[in-house]
Amino acid sequence: MQGSRTDYVFDSDNECARLERQAALLSPERHLRLVTPPPAAVVLDAGCGSGAISRLIAKRHPDARVTGVDLNPAYSADAARRAAAEGLSNLTFETGDVTALRFADASVDLIWTQFVLYFLPHPELALAEFRRLLRPGGRLVAVLHEDPLMKHEPCKSELDARLQQVIPRLADIGLVRRLPMMLSALGFRDVVVEVELDPIYTAIGPIGAAQRRNLVEILGPARGRIAEILGGAAAADSFLADLLAFLDDPGTSSYTTLWTVAATAP
Ligand SMILES: C[S@@+](CC[C@H](N)C(=O)[O-])C[C@H]1O[C@@H](n2cnc3c(N)ncnc32)[C@H](O)[C@@H]1O
Repeated sequence: MQGSRTDYVFDSDNECARLERQAALLSPERHLRLVTPPPAAVVLDAGCGSGAISRLIAKRHPDARVTGVDLNPAYSADAARRAAAEGLSNLTFETGDVTALRFADASVDLIWTQFVLYFLPHPELALAEFRRLLRPGGRLVAVLHEDPLMKHEPCKSELDARLQQVIPRLADIGLVRRLPMMLSALGFRDVVVEVELDPIYTAIGPIGAAQRRNLVEILGPARGRIAEILGGAAAADSFLADLLAFLDDPGTSSYTTLWTVAATAP
């Protein structure tokens, strides 16, 4: 689907700062609950962005060797600076593509990948790469939103129509529902799915200030892409304004679910 997507559509000079703020909206204890590496584990954070979660994993598991990998060299450099500032010695960052990594076969104990797979033109290539890298019994933990911003009350047919047009072309927002079967087909076992309400996009009543800022900062860099989809800059601006007005309205609610999918390599 959406074969025209080749790049991460939210790239910007501000992206690492945004990702740091976004990480603060999440609950680390909840999101790392399935991350239980063995002693002295080799851990990979695939598509690490600013490395907020890589740092958390490195702190929680000081005997682990954690590597964060991101396609964007500016992000891996930013992540390395943040880790150095915190004095973390068991954590390194590098630039790389999660569909073709430099690590040897069966050399990794745990792969964490958060908010990445739905931006890839071919997520199946990343999953096959993860399968290659993981030792037998190694664990993959993937965290992804399902249908962000798509379910709300009351329905506003005109806004809904534009959301349906735009959001699925920014990311493969239904990928997470296919992920468990994709993993099984690759031979992964013990596939576990945990679903919860997402704290980044969900808004019951007016959207919170931190969530609103995050949304503005995500969608800003995608304005050009949204203009292509909707047929012009004015249409993109009016879509963004209408979406924010809806989320600001105390009489509305918007629900997004967050899936954590874990599986064991054969
Ligand atoms: C939404 S951010 C998530 C960052 C981080 N995992 C987090 O949760 O804060 C998505 C990240 O995936 C990275 N990315 C996209 N395609 C990639 C690829 N093929 N290989 C490695 N990283 C990729 C982007 O550069 C971006 O940093």
